[in-house]
Amino acid sequence: RRHLLDLESLSSEEIVILLDTADKLKRMTDGCRRKLSLLTGLTCANLFFENSTRTRNSFSLAAKRLGADTVEFSSAGSSVAKGESFVDTAKTIESMGVDWVVTRHSTPGTPHLLSRELDCSVLNAGDGPHEHPTQGLLDMLTIRQHRGQIAGLTVALVGDIAHSRTARSNIWGLKKLGAHVIICGPPTLVSQRWSELGFEVSYSLDEILPRCDVLNLLRIQFERQSARPFPSVQEYAALYAMTGDRVRRSKDGILIMAPGPINRGVEITPEVADGPHSVILEQVNNGIAVRMAALWLLAGKQEV
Ligand code: CP
Repeated sequence: RRHLLDLESLSSEEIVILLDTADKLKRMTDGCRRKLSLLTGLTCANLFFENSTRTRNSFSLAAKRLGADTVEFSSAGSSVAKGESFVDTAKTIESMGVDWVVTRHSTPGTPHLLSRELDCSVLNAGDGPHEHPTQGLLDMLTIRQHRGQIAGLTVALVGDIAHSRTARSNIWGLKKLGAHVIICGPPTLVSQRWSELGFEVSYSLDEILPRCDVLNLLRIQFERQSARPFPSVQEYAALYAMTGDRVRRSKDGILIMAPGPINRGVEITPEVADGPHSVILEQVNNGIAVRMAALWLLAGKQEV
């Protein structure tokens, strides 16, 4: 069985195949809107133990656009409340006859655990702060669609790197495809370990702005911080929010991205989120494309 657990362990060739397949399936479905009958008879189970709007619904739509069925499981309202374990829950859903299990959980490594326990393909839809591989892929697909290629671009990931699975998937994926990756945010939310691993680390958005082709703005993940966040929301917004003024001090044609959900007025102002440089809603649509590609390839298909 093949799985999609993280981008750190994928080769650049595997990432390019996923992106090329996503582009093709997006075209074949008229921008992810038309239904095909390519995977009729297969079933995708979404096992979500954390909240989601984008990832869950786009995995569901991706399966349906390819003609597959879906099973939707949320821990809220399930027999988890009666003491059923994560693995027993997954095995229960698997025994209903599913071909892929898509899982989101607050604990890092849970998809890797399921990949050893289940006899179907497992896809990581976010494991705590560890990785969110389909988010990394859809971000790279969006950059590639706008810029033609990733290699040679300077891409900054800005914000709460410490708690961001999106950051980690982007960091590994972008590096493999040849981008210069800048990791930017307050010292409390950016580990120096990244510079030891060869990445550029910056604590000043204003300093790096003129050099960036792409900014990916990550929200502060209050739900993963037990103490009062430092810097405060107000301090954070003053130093790191992407504002109209900062866009005007950026490179011409800068691409403004955010995985969502966005907190307007914290990491991005409404003027920028809804402005001409923002591709945030294109990212959402590309989420269906990369998830179609992942389901397709893990089903053992090759040429589209
Ligand atoms: N970007 C992302 O993972 O969004 P959701 O939490 O809404 O799925």
